Amino acid sequence: MKDLGQAAEGVRRIEWAEREMPVLRAIRERFERERPLEGKRIAACLHVTTETANLMRTLKAGGASIALCASNPLSTQDDVAAALVDTYGISTYAIKGEDNETYYTHIEAACDTHPELTMDDGADVISFLHGKRPEQLSEVIAGTEETTTGVIRLKALEAEGKLAYPIIAVNAALTKHLFDNRYGTGQSTIDGVLRATNVLLAGRKVVVAGYGWCGRGIAMRAKGMGSHVIVTEVDPLKAIEAVMDGYEVLPMARAAEIGEVFITATGDKSVITAEHVDRMRDGAILANSGHFNVEIDIPAIRERARSTREARQFVEEFEFADGRRVYLLAEGRLVNLSAAEGHPAQVMDMSFANQALASEYAVENKSKLEHKVYAVPEPIDKEIARLKLETMGVDIDRLTEEQERYLSSWSEGT
Ligand code: ADE
Repeated sequence: MKDLGQAAEGVRRIEWAEREMPVLRAIRERFERERPLEGKRIAACLHVTTETANLMRTLKAGGASIALCASNPLSTQDDVAAALVDTYGISTYAIKGEDNETYYTHIEAACDTHPELTMDDGADVISFLHGKRPEQLSEVIAGTEETTTGVIRLKALEAEGKLAYPIIAVNAALTKHLFDNRYGTGQSTIDGVLRATNVLLAGRKVVVAGYGWCGRGIAMRAKGMGSHVIVTEVDPLKAIEAVMDGYEVLPMARAAEIGEVFITATGDKSVITAEHVDRMRDGAILANSGHFNVEIDIPAIRERARSTREARQFVEEFEFADGRRVYLLAEGRLVNLSAAEGHPAQVMDMSFANQALASEYAVENKSKLEHKVYAVPEPIDKEIARLKLETMGVDIDRLTEEQERYLSSWSEGT
């Protein structure tokens, strides 16, 4: 971790986030009483933020001993890492801006603790254990995975018959992806672009690549800021949805010519290539909100450039032979976590409630789980939604007995 002297600021910000995480707080209070994770060693590879710190406190209250490392080299909040070590007694291996080698040294350090549970955001710990530490795999009871990209990697591992322990895909929970991916990514991505550039979005042409839950959120929020939003897609269904949601849908080669801000959220690689950049206007801004920094083909763009320089913090300028300049934000890494603070605590409350309850579920049901990727059980998902509504002071209706009978009968028609 970078500097223990930042711990006090970290504590203040962690407590601030906690105010917006009442569901996780209720789970922490129950965990303190019931200790469902007593003695369990957890290796967690997550973005080291104020929200993650509150999840770590919850797991510790449940009796776990934790080694936390970063799930992205640029997303660590150094004051939070310091507070975790200094005040909350949680081993943390993470420094904002660490190079790739340090990033993997930190994953190794977390795995050196011989975890019985793994908690990933992007599947790097699971893939490290499967690739480099196969002898440790039998020690692991189960793992959880936070994000779409990680779940895709783990399903690929499962399909090859190589997944060595059960996984609970937290991303599959409705209380995760409908809120975190959509409203969390939507708001925090715009926040990252604005903090990095301070450009006016009103009247600007914003191209959103990918219309999954994250892309939907980003497009919705950019539209709300007054941007003209263009969506690119490869999936016909999502493309129709984008059209009917009121967006212009174009192939990237055409969007490249008119866009002013480009935001990728596809989970795939080379979505914006050097050939696309060749077509872009002077001053175009490129940002990524997908998990890995592969969506924009940065090496090829760098090779094309006549010169590069840091135009301002988190903004790299590429100048080309014809004088055009294009600006890349946050090295093409998750712009919301690199240039801003990631999703607000209010949505992470539900995502991390899923993480905490999925860990408890995995420990309780370890003898029943096979080496498969599982969804979060529906009762857990529903309970989190119920608790969230309760903490928001929102009341809803209940079915009457007559309505329940109607919904379970086939005979009543016109
Ligand atoms: N992923 C997106 N936003 C996050 C946050 N605030 N904390 C941890 N992981 C995140």
